[in-house]
Amino acid sequence: MAMFEYYLIFLIPLCIIILIFFKFENRRKGSTPTNWPVVGMLPGLVGNAHRIHDYITEILRENGATFVFKGPLFTNMDMVFTCDPININHIFNKRFSNYPKGPEFQKIFEIMGDGIFRSDFEMWELQRRLTLSIVNQVGFYTSVEKTTWGTVRTELVPVLDHFLQRGIEMEMQDILERFAFDNICHLLFNHNPCSLSTDFPHVRCEKALGDALEPLLHRHIWPESIWRLQNWLNIGNEKKLTEASKAFDDFLHRCITSMEDKDQTTNDVNIFGIFKKAYEENSNKIRFAGDLRLFLRDGFLGLLIAGRDSLSTTLIWFFWLLSENPSAETKILEEIENVLSLSLHDDLRFFDVEECKKLVYLHACFYETLRLYPAVPLELKSSILPDTLPNNIEVKKNTKIVLSFYSTGRMESVWGKDALEFKPERWISDRGVLRNEPSFKFPAFNVGPRSCPGKEMALVEMKIVVVAIMHRYRVRVVEGHRVSPSDSVFLKTKHGLKVRLLSRKDA
Ligand code: HEM
Repeated sequence: MAMFEYYLIFLIPLCIIILIFFKFENRRKGSTPTNWPVVGMLPGLVGNAHRIHDYITEILRENGATFVFKGPLFTNMDMVFTCDPININHIFNKRFSNYPKGPEFQKIFEIMGDGIFRSDFEMWELQRRLTLSIVNQVGFYTSVEKTTWGTVRTELVPVLDHFLQRGIEMEMQDILERFAFDNICHLLFNHNPCSLSTDFPHVRCEKALGDALEPLLHRHIWPESIWRLQNWLNIGNEKKLTEASKAFDDFLHRCITSMEDKDQTTNDVNIFGIFKKAYEENSNKIRFAGDLRLFLRDGFLGLLIAGRDSLSTTLIWFFWLLSENPSAETKILEEIENVLSLSLHDDLRFFDVEECKKLVYLHACFYETLRLYPAVPLELKSSILPDTLPNNIEVKKNTKIVLSFYSTGRMESVWGKDALEFKPERWISDRGVLRNEPSFKFPAFNVGPRSCPGKEMALVEMKIVVVAIMHRYRVRVVEGHRVSPSDSVFLKTKHGLKVRLLSRKDA
């Protein structure tokens, strides 16, 4: 049967049935979806795609933190959803080798090539060693510090001053994304694409990174055959993904060419050189053999996405939570004054990584933000061999497991009765130092061997940005602006964050 006929006969009726069942689904109490004949539980999932993270959390709450989802017939969409720390520990630590990201993840994220985020086994080990050798290099944090201060001074402050002087609203999520993109490009390629300036230039790759996030989440929700059809017809979300992929290729191609032409020894940290050396040492083992440029493209793309999106996402929720919790804002200002000896009347001064470490309350605010709004809200894993999860759920070979980190942070069974409240104090011990929580209870930076190698770097960058902003401006969310999580693989805010700035000195 021709592909088109196949879709006409099977998929269009399937979509219609899903929509009909969804109408019934909506009239029921509770969130746990009904397992309908033929279409399984898909109507519930599709009908709640616009609020997917809260929907999954409600289901997990109703079902003791683990839930078996039944997909439509013949779609291979059965999945186990869990947010239970005991399962997270089992899957990410104890039985790590049985739970790679797996083939489903690889299909969904094919746009990312064979970089660290998408790879498993040997390729992941190589990319992981490579990334660690970058972040562990002497001078790496000095370089992060220098680059971040540079982008703050030359881009962020002039743009924020522009809005302050005019007293007009600004969309802060867009500004922080552009900031984070320029900053990570500068660090990786020694090239600043200047996407953040008062005329908000259209930088294709920067925009494409944003455009790719929502379609990638939709690939988790819809059966593969449906998004493959969209892809084949080049319409809707899939069209956005194809265009994004082209934009990444063009941008990275230009960056790589310019790095080849430059004398990289002038950089503080020669990231390009580290990638090239890793390729030369391993090219006989890996499937990139003969294609250094592809190796570089995939490797850099992962770092670009991590550097832009996880950082800007965390910062945007931080500023929103602060606007809802003025006492936390006061305490951060006190900490800036006492620990950095930086009063509101002083000019902002450079501070380094060591001083960053002393900002304990601010650190606690970041953790609390990430507990409630983890930048990466979902993880997907797949079992190689059958297994039994610690809470007795049977896992067959090749079972897809969706881990909702968003839900873990919101479970009373994990964080107590005040789980939904923003309380940075929960992270600070009686001795005034940061309290450590096991990562399977606080998985915002992932867990076990695949935990985030950019964590320390991100914390340094975020502290510099937040102190620079809070010392100079009061950020006020525009009245009536609604904030809720978007349906994207990074937990963006759906409509950005509309704010107005006031001068801190006039406060
Ligand atoms: C607040 C900021 C950040 C958060 C919350 C965060 C969180 C995470 C999470 C949850 C993962 C696991 C993702 C997955 O496996 O699908 C991850 C992996 C990773 N992160 Fe971060 N990240 C942050 C910043 C950064 C930065 C700035 C970098 C460096 C550019 C970075 C580099 C990476 C890399 C390379 C991995 C892959 C690790 C592996 O698979 O072995 N991250 N991060």
